[in-house]
Parts: sequence; C-alpha cells; structure tokens
Amino acid sequence: MCGIVGYLGNKDAYAVLIKGLHRLEYRGYDSAGVAMLSAKGELNVYKSKGKVADLESFARSKDISGTIGIAHTRWATHGEPNEVNAHPHYSPSGNLALIHNGIIENYSVIRAELESRGYEFRSSTDTEVIVYLIEYIMKSNRTDLCTAVQLALRQVVGAYAIAVISRDNPDRIIAARKSSPLVVGIGEDEFFLASDATPIIEYTDKVVYLNDGEIAVISRGEDLKVVNLDNVEITPEIKKLAMNISQLEKGGYPHFMLKEIFEQPRTILNCIRGRINVEGTNVALSGVIDNREKFLNARRIVIVACGTSWHAALIGEHLIEDFCRIPVEVEYASEFRYRNPVIYPDDIVIAISQSGETADTLAAVELAKSEGAFIYGICNAVGSSIPRTTDSGSYIHVGPEIGVASTKAFTGQVTVLSMLALTIAHQRGNISEEKFIQLVRELQAIPDKIKEVLKRSEEVKELSRIFTYAHNFIYLGRGYNYPAALEGALKLKEISYIHAEGYPAAEMKHGPIALIDAEMPVVVIATSDSIYEKTISNIQEIKARQGRVIAIVTEGDKAVRGIADYCIEVPQVAEPFTPIVASIPLQLLAYYIAVNKGRDVDRPRNLAKSVTVE
Ligand code: M6R
Repeated sequence: MCGIVGYLGNKDAYAVLIKGLHRLEYRGYDSAGVAMLSAKGELNVYKSKGKVADLESFARSKDISGTIGIAHTRWATHGEPNEVNAHPHYSPSGNLALIHNGIIENYSVIRAELESRGYEFRSSTDTEVIVYLIEYIMKSNRTDLCTAVQLALRQVVGAYAIAVISRDNPDRIIAARKSSPLVVGIGEDEFFLASDATPIIEYTDKVVYLNDGEIAVISRGEDLKVVNLDNVEITPEIKKLAMNISQLEKGGYPHFMLKEIFEQPRTILNCIRGRINVEGTNVALSGVIDNREKFLNARRIVIVACGTSWHAALIGEHLIEDFCRIPVEVEYASEFRYRNPVIYPDDIVIAISQSGETADTLAAVELAKSEGAFIYGICNAVGSSIPRTTDSGSYIHVGPEIGVASTKAFTGQVTVLSMLALTIAHQRGNISEEKFIQLVRELQAIPDKIKEVLKRSEEVKELSRIFTYAHNFIYLGRGYNYPAALEGALKLKEISYIHAEGYPAAEMKHGPIALIDAEMPVVVIATSDSIYEKTISNIQEIKARQGRVIAIVTEGDKAVRGIADYCIEVPQVAEPFTPIVASIPLQLLAYYIAVNKGRDVDRPRNLAKSVTVE
C-alpha cells in the first residue's frame, strides 16, 4: 500500500528518494510522485501515473536538484490513479507539499468547511484536505509549520502517516503518524524517512519507529526531535536494524517470489534456531514461557488475521486443539473488529501478520486489548506496529518478504504456531514426553524435507504448462490440509488472475461438485494421513465426473497415483506438519502458471503487500 520516503542531508535527494520508492514498490501502488526544495528556493513537484520508472522518465528533463525532499507511491483509495490524485499534494499557495499514507475519514467535512471559505481543491483525494488545512491554520493562526500540523491533526479522524515540507523552511521535514507506519533513519548529518526500513537499510542501521500520535521534527544540523500533538517532547528510542541489503535483492532469481520459495529451507531453520535445541528434545518459545501462567490458564485462544495469515491461523487452530486441548476460534480480523465479539479477560488473542501493519488486524488487537485479553503477536516485520502493541509474541524470522504473494512468511507462521502448540502442550502436560520429542524432531527435519520438495520444481514447471490456460481451479484438502488448499487457491488467483477456490474435500459434494467437468483442474492434497482413504473417495468422485486431478501425494504413494491424472510427491512428514511441505508445490505451481501467462508475479495488479487501510 502507499509508500513514503523522505530525505534531508547532503546527498542529492532525488536519487535517494527514487531508490527508496523502488525499494517500496513491493508494497503495491498505481502512481508515484516526488517533491524537492531546490537550492534556488523552488518547490518542485513531479507526479506520474503508473510505475516509479514512469515518474523517472517524466522528471528526466526537469530540475531535480536539492538535498531535501519527500516522495510517495500511491495505492488509490479516494479518486482514480492519475497525476492529479498522485502525491505529493501541495497547498493552495504552493508553499507546502505533503505525502500521506492512510485514510482521512472526515475529509469531506473538512473539505466542505474549507470550500465554504473559498478554497478550491484540485484532486479527489482525502489527502489534499490535510495540506490545505495546515496552510489555512498557518495563515489564520499565524503559527509555524509544526504547530499547524499539530492543530490540523487534532481535527483529523482516521489513519495517517504524513510528511510535509515548506518552501519557507528548506531545512526541515515534519512527519507524523497515527495507525500507519513511519520510520526515521538517522545517519551522519542526514535523516531518512520511510514507511518501513527497506529504503533506509543501505544508509544507516539506526532507526526510530514513530508511535501513534508522535510528530518527528527533522531539522538540518540538529538532533531528531519528537513531540506529541500537545507539543510535549518525547525522547526517541533509537533501535538498530538487523536486516541487511542482500536480503532486499533478487540474488539471481528472476522474481522475488521464486527466491522466497527457494529460501524456505533456510528461513524455517532461522525460525526454529534457538527455539528447538540441537538434540531435538525440547522446544521453548520464550514468549510462551515468559507468560506461562497466562497460557496454562487460558479459557480459550482466539486467532485474528487476514489473507494468508488467516490460513496459517486455521492450521494453528488444528495444532493447538490437537496438542493442547484448548478451544480455539479463528476470525477474520476485519469481521472480528466490527461484530461486537465476546472476549473474556482470560482469553488469549493471537494476532498473525507478516507485515505487522495490517489495519484490520491492528484494530482487532486494539479491540481485544480494550476488553482485557492477553495479546500475542506472530509477525515477521521487526519493529512494526503489531509487535509493538501486543503483550508478547514471536517473530517468525524469515527475513523481508518482497513478493506480494506470501510464501516463506506462511511457512514461517505455521512453524511458529507448531512450536507454540508444542510448547503449551508440554507445559500443560497434554502430551507424553515421547510424543513431544518425536514431534519436535519431525519439525526439526522440515527444512531438509523442503529441500527435497524443491528438487521437484522442474516437474511442477512442466505440469504448469498443461494448465496455464485453465479458467478455473478447485483446490481440495482435509484436516490439516484444508487450510493448505485454501492457501494454494489464493496463491494461484493472486498472481495468475485465474479463478480458484479452496474447499474441504468432503464439502465438494454439497455444491462445488456441480462445477466438475473435463475442463476443471482439481488440485487435491492427498498425503498419507489419518483421512487418506476418505480423500481417495473424494478423488474418485471427481474422476467419475471427468475432472482432471493433480494430486499432492506422499513419496511412494500407489493408490492415488492409480487414479489421479498427475501426481507431485512430497516426503513423508508427521501429519500436523504436512501443510508446510504440501504448500511448496502449490506455491511453485501458482508461480509457474503466472510466469507462463506473463503476469507481474511480484507486483500483481490491485494488490498491496502491506494493507494499511481497512
Ligand atoms: O501482513 P499480513 O500477514 O497481515 O497480510 C495479510 C494479507 O493481506 C496477506 O496475507 C495477503 O493475503 C497476501 N497477499 C497473501 O499472499
């Protein structure tokens, strides 16, 4: 979703800003823009519909000088993607330029008020009202920029991360956040500003994550100053970034998505490192151990998430109920937050989010918190909003995920949920020592099992050619693999734009079976598990109606191979961990089909990596 970059220092700001925008492209956007203050005192604003490369072409012959500037990638919410609606927006006098991520809910009220005072707006956005309001306050109250921003933000309802520069003060950027992420990077005599740390990492590892209601006053030659809306000064907490620049490059792969699929043996190893001991006799998730009493006494666990993270949550439900015998409910965060749910103080609410910034999940967390529940976060992006607002949690440690379609984050989330369920079950005594050690060792072996699956990528690539032109797909799975089927379908539709639906295999006969004919590819996860025989019956039902079956089977399988049209083998693993290995060929299948169709795999249309608006 929208991306913010800012720079103030001695470098050529344009180059830093454009590079930063490229780093944020993975978030998803449909227009881009940049504003710089030149040495001659001009405020130059350039905007373009489309990609950052289009903006670069547009700005090529223009004045791009200056050592201070702000830049933006916009994911349209209010008003179509075009040059006028793209950010930065400037004030009526042209003195101020502002960029914004988030949604201003009461923008129409503010706009009407300003229009009644004679202001004419140029765009259809909610953002433009902020910069107009700031300038109106500066003029009518005769205040400086920072005070005007504070006063304006008091009138604003909604979510925002903003940055504003002024022609009258070429040595200052004012930035503020509420419910939308913003990070300030601190270098030698220079400052960076961004929606996340990816544009900053190559310049400095010192960052300050702004909290809600905080305003950063970034001034040339001065230390970073942070104040709140009441102008009370807050000591910024400077953190050290753990990311490195090679994690943000493709490393020889044609797409980030493929790189991230192939990284999974290592990312899962990183995820379990320090949590499972070398001997494979213990797993200890510190967030659980540190809050042992809470987990021992939990009445219920509610998991809130969106998209792929919601699919991981469904697997978490199976794991926790299976191992720990604690009732679990899984909720779409977007539904949970608005449906007046019953939340008990002895509930544990787990929020799963790769980005840690998903607006609906964040709102669900705030709601559960206000009802007194204990909140546990499972996130990837270190320092993001969800881990900073939860009571405790676990990072999945899979490194930055740049491809919009989540792959390594999904398997990392399921791995953390597996360790969480095992840790709780062990602490509560729900599981025998023998079973516990067996499962810990099975989990420890997963990275090697994934290496085996990845060796079959060429096979999946071949298979993808046969199905590239299908118009619909059905994905089926049962038990632990039902959520894996949902995830397989989501991957395909996200990046290939082929319609795909996931179902519990036995549910097919209650409706979806009407869709089966010789044109319909049906992907069935049919690994050797406790309901293998039942899944075989479901495959028979599809074959009886001429459906074309692609089955994910366990190595050495004979029964399914005898009836399915195509089989992809995965190694034998303990049943609770089959979704991790079964997901790999489904990720590859979606990837290769999308590549065959010439899709923009890493940046599929309409999608955003970090969904920071509801
Ligand atoms: O960052 P989050 O895990 O909270 O994101 C949730 C969804 O937006 C995300 O999983 C989305 O469905 C992905 N594009 C899936 O590939």
